[in-house]
Amino acid sequence: MRIAVYPGSFDPVTYGHIDLIRRGAAVFDKLVIGVLRNYVKKPLFELEERVEMLHQVTRDIPNTEITTFSGLVVDFCHQQKACAVLRGVRSFSDFEYELVMAQTNRKLAEDVETIFLTTSPEYSYVSSSSVRELIAFNGDITAFVPDYIRERIEDKCKK
Ligand code: PNS
Repeated sequence: MRIAVYPGSFDPVTYGHIDLIRRGAAVFDKLVIGVLRNYVKKPLFELEERVEMLHQVTRDIPNTEITTFSGLVVDFCHQQKACAVLRGVRSFSDFEYELVMAQTNRKLAEDVETIFLTTSPEYSYVSSSSVRELIAFNGDITAFVPDYIRERIEDKCKK
């Protein structure tokens, strides 16, 4: 069975992430979505909220699992018996960052490959950090996240 890990902070999950999950799940037998627990910045959403939101938006993708992890992504891959780390690349600047991470991971664990998928063009501008910035300035996020996530964000902002 070919298992891949898709790690990230998912704060919050966006259309770009969902597109990558759908396409990654079509390539591997199982895709384990790993939500990073020791996220350095103060997140917008707590870990449990990020996991719950991921569950909601991936309900129709059968061969996915969502779990949290802390520490190194390669250790998480070994725990999950995954042969690959899946990452999305939107731009050259993404690639520069991802290349260093992939090569570091390769140095740490030669049995774990990094597989890059290029982001679908319609989502190339989408990022969680843009979503967080738009929220801060009352911008429209309908093109960035599904309605369910937008409603969760609106609920959070009301509190
Ligand atoms: O959604 P993000 O913030 O782009 O995800 C980054 C993530 C979680 C993939 C990255 O920070 C990560 O793998 N962190 C765990 C520590 C690790 O293994 N780093 C790789 C060696 S540099």
